[in-house]
Amino acid sequence: MSERCDIRLTVNGETVIEAVEPRTTLVDFLREQLALTGSHVGCEHGVCGACTVRVDGVIVRGCLMLAAQCDGAKVETIEGVSDSGQIADLQDAFERRNALQCGFCTPGMLLTAQDLLSSNAAPSREKIREQISGNYCRCTGYQAIVDAIESVAQARGRK
Ligand code: FES
Ligand code: FES
Repeated sequence: MSERCDIRLTVNGETVIEAVEPRTTLVDFLREQLALTGSHVGCEHGVCGACTVRVDGVIVRGCLMLAAQCDGAKVETIEGVSDSGQIADLQDAFERRNALQCGFCTPGMLLTAQDLLSSNAAPSREKIREQISGNYCRCTGYQAIVDAIESVAQARGRK
């Protein structure tokens, strides 16, 4: 077994100091060492988007990043983003518009949608589709997801 290294980072606003294996991915670290299981593991190859988290404000694939690379970083997961209320409107819209079924893709989809809306307040449907194209959903056919994100963009624009 390879030698563990200590990392210190912020996860959802809390300081975390943990020993990790050099090869442990960020998503495995979050799920297995911190019990933050909202980030899912699908393909493990950077394709499906189920493992999406934010690192220093940027959304990343948690399966493609090593936990050790996050030493000193600010990590936000669906749990933290959800608890802070910043995606409450997106969560409501996903529920209202049946934009989730099994929910496996949903945490990654919500983080990706929030990332889009924070940089583009009024994205076209094409832009929304483009943004979520890296997040696979096996259940919904995407239409309802695009509807939900578009409705939130419009509602935020009215505020
Ligand atoms: S599990 Fe990371 S992109 Fe699929
Ligand atoms: S709701 Fe099942 S994978 Fe998207």
